[in-house]
Amino acid sequence: MEKLLSKDLLGIKDLTVEEMNLIFETADKFKEVLQRPIKKVPSLRHMTIANVFFENSTRTKLSFELAQKRLSADIINFSSSLSSIKKGESLLDTINNILVMKVDMIVMRHPDPGAPHFISKNIKASVINAGDGTHEHPTQALLDSYTIKERLGNIKNKKIAIIGDILHSRVAISNIYALQKLGAKVMICGPSTLIPKHISSLNVLIENNVENALRWCNVANVLRIQLERQGSNKFPSLREYSQYFGINKKLLDKIDRDIIIMHPGPINRGVEISSDIADSNNSLILEQVENGVAIRMAVMYLLSLNKLQ
Ligand code: NCD
Repeated sequence: MEKLLSKDLLGIKDLTVEEMNLIFETADKFKEVLQRPIKKVPSLRHMTIANVFFENSTRTKLSFELAQKRLSADIINFSSSLSSIKKGESLLDTINNILVMKVDMIVMRHPDPGAPHFISKNIKASVINAGDGTHEHPTQALLDSYTIKERLGNIKNKKIAIIGDILHSRVAISNIYALQKLGAKVMICGPSTLIPKHISSLNVLIENNVENALRWCNVANVLRIQLERQGSNKFPSLREYSQYFGINKKLLDKIDRDIIIMHPGPINRGVEISSDIADSNNSLILEQVENGVAIRMAVMYLLSLNKLQ
């Protein structure tokens, strides 16, 4: 396989294992480019890419932008808070106005699940989902799986616990799809109010005790409490959450197993994870961010091949 099957990357659900492996192999090559003194290749110099963000982002936006620059693409950045969306323009009108300026690819983050899918059906340009509400965040799951593979050599039969606010997390859903396709066993852990009912249909183990989850897993992917998405009170207080579900040195010392710690960021230090663990040798948090650039270069490069045919 040399190309991705679709013009878009909307989610992991529709991606094949072969496509994921192609993305990983391509990311290996770009990771090598990123070690060179001149970290730039001309692969996308024929492409113009718009980063269209309707929701806040630090890592994902910077990572996409840097990946585009490393590939020599022309880029434009759109952020909804400064735009005519505030004047009542529809999503499709905004996108069509961007496209008429000869944009070839859209990287989109939106608070509504399915927004990039809707746009992709209505335009010819490639659409990459950079997070749609609580639905999917495919490049995050790809970079998470790539980072686990890099550290452990293989994902097959590894035990991964996803711990925290599963209910509001697109990272959790995309990670479950990616890890299961790659042969891992996945456990979900958190307070039952933060675990959606439908999750059992995804064939994951469910655990409400964080110590049990840590005793089981090789990798703990710790998720942020999504403060901005909590509609009603799902837990009494952040202090209590941290007391029962926070991952700290005392807990890991008690378990005394070699567990890899991951987190997609942004971290609420002292809530879901303590600083000594976030900054420890077992933490891959900064490796995840570093690998994100190579993974996004790979995705955009592979999608651009469909455009050249
Ligand atoms: C995540 C996101 O925005 O979905 N962050 C990220 O992209 N690195 C997770 C989060 O916001 O907690």
